[in-house]
Amino acid sequence: MKVLGIETSCDETGIAIYDDQQGLLAEALYSQIALHAEYGGVVPELASRDHVQRIIPLIDDVMKQANCQPEDIDGIAYTSGPGLMGALMVGAAVGRSLAWTWKCPSIGVHHMEGHLLAPMLEENTPEFPFLALLVSGGHTLLVDVTGIGQYTIIGESLDDAVGEAFDKTAKMLGLGYPGGPIISELALTGKTDRYKFPRPMVNRPGLDMSFSGLKTFVLNTWSESDKSEQTKADIAYAFQEAVVDTLAIKCKRALKETSHQRLVIAGGVSANKRLRSRLTELTKTLSLEVFYPKQQFCTDNGAMIAYAGLQRLSAGEQDGDGFFTTPRWPLGDLNKPGLSK
Ligand code: KG4
Ligand code: ZN
Repeated sequence: MKVLGIETSCDETGIAIYDDQQGLLAEALYSQIALHAEYGGVVPELASRDHVQRIIPLIDDVMKQANCQPEDIDGIAYTSGPGLMGALMVGAAVGRSLAWTWKCPSIGVHHMEGHLLAPMLEENTPEFPFLALLVSGGHTLLVDVTGIGQYTIIGESLDDAVGEAFDKTAKMLGLGYPGGPIISELALTGKTDRYKFPRPMVNRPGLDMSFSGLKTFVLNTWSESDKSEQTKADIAYAFQEAVVDTLAIKCKRALKETSHQRLVIAGGVSANKRLRSRLTELTKTLSLEVFYPKQQFCTDNGAMIAYAGLQRLSAGEQDGDGFFTTPRWPLGDLNKPGLSK
């Protein structure tokens, strides 16, 4: 079964074809980073318009790469939420219309389910059950995963998502967008002993997190500083350490509570090298296994949507006559009637 995946929830147009026998056949991605950079963040209307321009050439490109004709495609999966409404509608409208034309089923996929299953695109894949740490620009979730579609959220950020905290910190320091890769690069030259930022909520029981206080800490430290380039790097280092430490403490606690033997880390922030090495260390100490997507599949991409869509389509799910898009869609509501179709 070959599924064409379409991801347009934010600022990346991602297209891919995944085959249940041969794996990933082709993929293409257009990132709008340059388009939004001068505004310091994603401008929703510009994002939608750009998806409109990119989506068809990218689909053509992927079909050629995979040597596929329309009749070779058995299903089409597109991100139906959560995300920017206009951007989602571009992918959903194109996906649903192509499915009509190519006479195959289509399915709307939850963006975070795509991220959660992205490690399945690798050679060494995690078996169920596992604990998933999902860290992106909009979400910070600890999920107890017992199978496809069986997701129980056991911890989450009560305010800013981790990726959002990286982006806001970068903005405060006058760095570019998106903040995550810039902060992590800068942190490499930061002094390790200059600042120590708080690890929010680690002394309270439970698995919830909070990152907005850290932002205030960054702001205060920055405004009282000499504002030098070295200070930027030192703050970047202290900020990243505080985030990584907090996530590691919560993961350790969640692994203990669930008794899961495997930890999966996915979403844009899972590209962070410091986070990856810290969690690899943690799982090694606990004699557990850890799984990540490769760097290019940590951030938004079409392959994860094609994969998640294939799972749903082969379980017999598919769209009705129309399509469904939603800017907000809690992962815990994935299987509620009326929301999954
Ligand atoms: O998953 P993603 O591409 O989009 C969403 O679903 O939100 O995640 C984007 C987020 C951004 O906040 C970005 O700053 C962050 O992931 N990110 C990183 C790194 N690469 C991307 N954060 C920390 N370190 C990185 N290397
Ligand atoms: Zn994402």
